[in-house]
Amino acid sequence: MNLSDQSPAKAAPGTGKRFLKVGVLVSGNGSNLQSIIDHCEAGSIPAGVACVISNKADAFALERARNHSIPCAVLDHKNFPDRESFDAAMVRILREHSVQLVALAGFNRIVSPVMLEAFPMAILNIHPALLPAFPGNRAQRQAVEHGVKIAGCTVHFVDSGTDSGPIISQAAVPVFGNDTEETLSRRILKEEHKIYPTVIRLYAEGKIRVEGRRVLISQAQEPVDLFLENPPL
Ligand code: GRF
Repeated sequence: MNLSDQSPAKAAPGTGKRFLKVGVLVSGNGSNLQSIIDHCEAGSIPAGVACVISNKADAFALERARNHSIPCAVLDHKNFPDRESFDAAMVRILREHSVQLVALAGFNRIVSPVMLEAFPMAILNIHPALLPAFPGNRAQRQAVEHGVKIAGCTVHFVDSGTDSGPIISQAAVPVFGNDTEETLSRRILKEEHKIYPTVIRLYAEGKIRVEGRRVLISQAQEPVDLFLENPPL
């Protein structure tokens, strides 16, 4: 399935350039949101953040969005009887802003079929682990406790499982002997801020194709000798 056919980026008014409207769902600090906004504003992604929705009223991510005059909504999931009605409210807001791609960025809720059917293969998530290892909460802590030597982050399509959808991009970082959950999280987060905007750019450019579980990226260069060994022996 070529996703550009399904969710074509529209031309930005007056520019003739393709321009993708992204809705970002957040619950917390919003450093990934910031990275996406910064790349959009710098023009390195043919996209813009059309709206931000948080399920937490005190999420710092909201302040980041407001600093850039991006429309924000707070929807407290506790005010809804079930996941489906919460998601239906999100879909309404996303549609009001003509969102074409939804990016989960530190959003701590599982999405229901209501969202998945409203945005088929158009919901992305970033997870701080090399999936399928360490899905779920506190992935960096799981990695440290397991003793892995290489950790990282993953951008994937969202499906009905937990962090289980087709993988689009991953970045790896070494894990050192004295790492804590915090030090590893910081190292991983730096990579998150690179790969999430890159994936959104590729999506906006119509370069992402999905064949079953495999995501193919047109014009992607295969790394020739870029391999990470830890410890380097
Ligand atoms: C990131 O580590 C992301 O991978 C995970 O939640 C964290 C969100 O960080 N899903 P931020 O809110 O973007 O700073």
